[in-house]
Amino acid sequence: MRPSSWLPAVLGAALVAATPTPTIQKRWPTAFASVADGGFSLNGSKFSFIGTNAYWLPYLNSDEDIVNTLTNMSAAGIKVVRTWAFNDVTSVPTAGSWLQLIQNGTTTINDGPNGLQRLDRLVELAEQHGIYVLLSLTNNWNPVATPSSTPARRDDTASSATPLPRNFLSNDYGGMDAYVREFGTSKTHDEFYTDPTIRTFFEKYVQAVVSRFANNPFVFAWELANDPRCNSTIPTSPTCTTQTITQWHADLSKFIRSIDPNHLVSSGDHGFLCPTCTKLFPLTPKAAPSAAAGGASTRRRSRAAVMTKARLIKKIAEDRRAAPRAADAPTVKIRGAWKAPAKAKRQENGGPGSAFDGSSGVDSQDILNAPDIGFGSFQLLPDQNNYDTNPNDAIVPPSANFGATVQQGINWIQTQAASAQAVGKPLVLTAFGLVTQANEVVFVPFNASTPVNPGAGVSTRKRQTPGELGTGVTDDQRDDAYTAWLNAGIQAGLQGMTQYQWSSVGLTPSDGTFVQSPNAQQQTAGGGTLPQSPNDGYGTLGQAQNAEQGVLQDASQNITSFLLQ
Ligand SMILES: *[C@@H]1O[C@H](CO)[C@@H](O)[C@H](O)[C@H]1NC(C)=O
Ligand SMILES: *[C@@H]1O[C@H](CO)[C@@H](O)[C@H](O)[C@H]1NC(C)=O
Ligand SMILES: *[C@@H]1O[C@H](CO)[C@@H](O)[C@H](O)[C@H]1NC(C)=O
Ligand SMILES: *[C@@H]1O[C@H](CO)[C@@H](O)[C@H](O)[C@H]1NC(C)=O
Ligand SMILES: *[C@@H]1O[C@H](CO)[C@@H](O)[C@H](O)[C@H]1NC(C)=O
Ligand SMILES: *[C@@H]1O[C@H](CO)[C@@H](O)[C@H](O)[C@H]1NC(C)=O
Repeated sequence: MRPSSWLPAVLGAALVAATPTPTIQKRWPTAFASVADGGFSLNGSKFSFIGTNAYWLPYLNSDEDIVNTLTNMSAAGIKVVRTWAFNDVTSVPTAGSWLQLIQNGTTTINDGPNGLQRLDRLVELAEQHGIYVLLSLTNNWNPVATPSSTPARRDDTASSATPLPRNFLSNDYGGMDAYVREFGTSKTHDEFYTDPTIRTFFEKYVQAVVSRFANNPFVFAWELANDPRCNSTIPTSPTCTTQTITQWHADLSKFIRSIDPNHLVSSGDHGFLCPTCTKLFPLTPKAAPSAAAGGASTRRRSRAAVMTKARLIKKIAEDRRAAPRAADAPTVKIRGAWKAPAKAKRQENGGPGSAFDGSSGVDSQDILNAPDIGFGSFQLLPDQNNYDTNPNDAIVPPSANFGATVQQGINWIQTQAASAQAVGKPLVLTAFGLVTQANEVVFVPFNASTPVNPGAGVSTRKRQTPGELGTGVTDDQRDDAYTAWLNAGIQAGLQGMTQYQWSSVGLTPSDGTFVQSPNAQQQTAGGGTLPQSPNDGYGTLGQAQNAEQGVLQDASQNITSFLLQ
């Protein structure tokens, strides 16, 4: 077991008690985030949270920068920070941190000062700020820079020929495809989930990280992966289905719970649903909390009815019929003008749309019902995914159809809440964000390695016509959308919502990190000349950041008072 500063507090509390042994046993599990009454319990109290994403936070070289960042997060009411507990490299960088080397047919885990000790430090500093850390163990997305920019991986020095420094992007920390490139036989993305060699190497990594923090209650939970799916940058095989992905979750969550029974395990998936897919873990009537079973009477939950397969199909049909009206009658007051929704083609006989048809290989309800998955996860990033039920998946920039974008987000949140309620487990929105006008030029979608360059024919961005400028939303629109979504989530009974993404400014330039002059300055928007944290399209600084943090702070108060009602 690792020494940790929380230990004396817990033991100290136990030692003053009259009967130390039973007290330790009773108190011990309550220090960790756990599930009670359909919500979270943490340190003996009910717990719901507003959080943020900062995948880069452990990989700052300066502890002072981490402290300043956590201080600002805490001031904005942030209780949980979601970050990457992986940082794979294919050759050892000359400077900066890395956690695992994947090379020559094997892996080497770095537990040195520029390795796992950086994670130790983050968790320690987070504890000092009363913030919990949600640790993700790998990433679905890891596109390497195009062959024309050499070296293929990003460099760790400012003189890199590649446009962004190493670790600047969320998808530049290695991940599933890094394992597949090294160990795969057919080199398809889904080998990550099925190939025995790859699974052994991934489990070795998971074992090293998970066992390190098994006794630390300031790790909020383990997240298996960011956005796991069948498809990624490298193609998947035709045999990859929702059952492939669900089985992997069931196996890996069981593995983690065998090493670390203290922490909850979640997926990190995008929340795609598939009411018509074959289930590995079918819902049983007793899994759905009813008033009779005490579910609804002990906790105020989603107002939406419990989502059965039949109800979900019905809701999809209803949403589709309502879609053209959505922008005309938004449920919240929204600043700024928006155009009436582009005439969405109604497809009476089409499929349910990519968020509901299993085409990504994700059936989040089946994943959530796996026995060792403790709570649900989903994301809301309308610049990159469609959440409507229109099978045409009309690609419309959020700014051109703002009211509909907000309403679709609300629908998505309510549908997710109902789905999780049917399973009877808590639910967290692990990432939500909109690309603003200020961020258009720096926006890098998860499946890309360079910013979308309007006019350059990059077609990886969903909902934006390539080359079209002025498609981001205004800062005010972003704040309105976030307010509407946060409110909808709180009302629907979500247990956590983490904004994407946090920004820090005035960081210490250091070789081997993303905080480099001039790269960090050139690649971030929103003003300021001081070195900034990575911004892949959702960061804010200056006045915009103050306004955004105000929204998060309000929501943090609201979610806490909702919890105590
Ligand atoms: C991989 O092979 C190269 C070339 O032989 C060698 O320099 C390097 O140290 C090896 N790496 C590992 C982790 O064995
Ligand atoms: C639990 O509460 C005690 C007393 O307030 C505190 O010292 C400790 O840090 C808390 N632990 C966690 C995991 O929040
Ligand atoms: C990701 O981008 C690559 C090209 O870089 C493309 O071949 C692949 O289909 C894309 N994957 C998804 C899921 O969009
Ligand atoms: C996902 O992969 C399948 C199988 O290779 C392919 O048919 C499909 O077009 C891919 N979807 C996306 C969004 O890339
Ligand atoms: C924290 O917030 C203050 C006040 O807005 C700001 O001056 C400072 O640069 C911020 N620190 C970081 C690391 O972002
Ligand atoms: C917080 O609650 C107030 C009062 O109900 C509401 O006006 C506001 O929009 C809420 N803000 C957020 C971000 O949830």
